[in-house]
Amino acid sequence: MFCWSKSKRNSVAEEEPAAVIMSADTKKDGLTRAVLFDFHGVPMTCNYIAKWDQVQNFQAKPDDILIATYPKAGTTWVSYMLDLLYFGQEPSDRETSVPIYDRVPFLEIAFKSMPAGVDLANNLKTTPRIIKTHLPIQLLPKSFCEQNCKIVYVGRNAKDNAVSYFHMDRMTLIQPDPGDWSSYIQRYMDGQVIYGSWYDHVNGWWKKKQAYPNIHYMFYEDLVEDTGRELDKLCSFLGLTRSAEQKKKILLGVQFDQMKKNNMVNYSKFGLMDFNVSTFMRKGKVGDWKTHFTVAQNEVFDEHYKTKMKDSTLQFRTDI
Ligand code: A3P
Repeated sequence: MFCWSKSKRNSVAEEEPAAVIMSADTKKDGLTRAVLFDFHGVPMTCNYIAKWDQVQNFQAKPDDILIATYPKAGTTWVSYMLDLLYFGQEPSDRETSVPIYDRVPFLEIAFKSMPAGVDLANNLKTTPRIIKTHLPIQLLPKSFCEQNCKIVYVGRNAKDNAVSYFHMDRMTLIQPDPGDWSSYIQRYMDGQVIYGSWYDHVNGWWKKKQAYPNIHYMFYEDLVEDTGRELDKLCSFLGLTRSAEQKKKILLGVQFDQMKKNNMVNYSKFGLMDFNVSTFMRKGKVGDWKTHFTVAQNEVFDEHYKTKMKDSTLQFRTDI
């Protein structure tokens, strides 16, 4: 595979694989937007598979906690909640000087300019280790289920998810260029974005939950509606007891406005993102899709959605 070679890793513009979906093109600030190509049936870029052997062979420990999401479903929000639940009781350097992506490594990420997620995960000193992934269920490293790890999955309604992903791809200068909204929404519906089809992702994990009970399947919309209730459910799934005072502190810390100004969780130190284009903590709402979808786009999307979800028992709310 072209991006597995160490010397060539991330030199994706020069060398393209056979099944290219979108070519590398735009250059800004010296960064090249990556090539999107088919990887085991899922569109990916080198930045997420360059350490694939290590990722697939990752040795989970029984007390590891995995956060799994389709990108832009509220991963950072739930990561920070879990981090505070486990490690936020005492004031520490962690809270003031360790960014969330170092506390909760992103398992498969392998950007050239920063430590690979799998290495960060292997070197985590905490117990439990909290790890995040965006992998669809069929690509999840086997050891998480073999070790019966607790997995928290977060799903978000497809429309808001698409809008959030569009802005993420605009601002993250190494993601494939999203182009304009109308072409993007079509590609999103077709699953031609990194990590592939939203439909396959949310349904794949939902099905897995039926066979593997150690998955707590959450919804972004429920979190927005009542964060305290969802925190209680998380505690019960994880077998944690926290006092009312501790929970109050966590709930304050994970409010959107608090997280937006918290440099340890708002990605302002991450690099590779142009905050003049968009912010990572962008709107944090249910229903922002209404400011993006035209009436016609919405009708097409709804029809497509019905077809794709006709066999699914999953219910998402696009309004609360
Ligand atoms: P928007 O782009 O719609 O604002 P992820 O962490 O999976 O990349 O998801 C990012 C999305 O979650 C962004 O959505 C971000 O604003 C939202 N988000 C993060 N923290 C949040 C919070 N505390 N409350 C509500 N939304 C939050």
